Amino acid sequence: MKKEKVYIANWKMNLNIEEELNWCAQNYDVILELPKNLNTKIVLCPSFLSIYPLTQMFKTTEINIGAQDCSTHNKGSFTGQICAESLNRLECNYCIIGHSERREYNKETDQDIFNKFEQLINHKISPILCFGETPKDNIEKRTLSIIEKQLDKIFTSIKTGLLNVPKYLTIYLAYEPLGSIGTGIIPDLNHLENIYTWLWKKIDLENLTNIKLIYGGSVNEKNIHFFKKIDLIDGFLIGTSSLNFTEFEKIVKL
Ligand code: PGA
Repeated sequence: MKKEKVYIANWKMNLNIEEELNWCAQNYDVILELPKNLNTKIVLCPSFLSIYPLTQMFKTTEINIGAQDCSTHNKGSFTGQICAESLNRLECNYCIIGHSERREYNKETDQDIFNKFEQLINHKISPILCFGETPKDNIEKRTLSIIEKQLDKIFTSIKTGLLNVPKYLTIYLAYEPLGSIGTGIIPDLNHLENIYTWLWKKIDLENLTNIKLIYGGSVNEKNIHFFKKIDLIDGFLIGTSSLNFTEFEKIVKL
């Protein structure tokens, strides 16, 4: 049987609440068909405000809703933050963390991202953990050591049992080279094969289970064929090309 592929739409802050709800309402029947025949999982990550109406809209369907971030804290006086517990109560079962835009604009550190990861695991939400090197790291041949550093604490904590990941919870690791996010430039096959082979070996060595390795960065209807041929990749985190429903549908179906 064909391996399952996951398609995660990351709308960032590109659509307002009305546009996010319309994206779903106007294409509702087609969206419901997407996960049916194609061994496909769909996760839509809207802004926080659309999470509740969308989990209601897609209740009892196979469409999943995810958040784009969560707090590092469990509860307390943290004005403006959203805790993982609330996401879980809304049946928002996925959450992106560590996106390069948050690392850059919100100065998030690997420790912050680890704390968010821990919150998500404790509240039974699948983390979609983003990581990746800058173009400069790549030119200076530091890619693997940068990635290793970004993943190190999380891997060690799972391996040593400090983080107790429930067996049914999948962890999505999203490799997103920074030079490819929103630029239209994608890595070559050789680069991707090296990275994913290294990642799978590491996952194997550390005895980690329930991990899916996905890719994000300028995925579109023109290049999706190239990516889908790479068996080491379990799915895609799609930004710009997920804003237009027809393009997203093509990426899933092509
Ligand atoms: P992009 O964004 O598809 O627009 O490159 C991907 C992402 O930032 O997750």
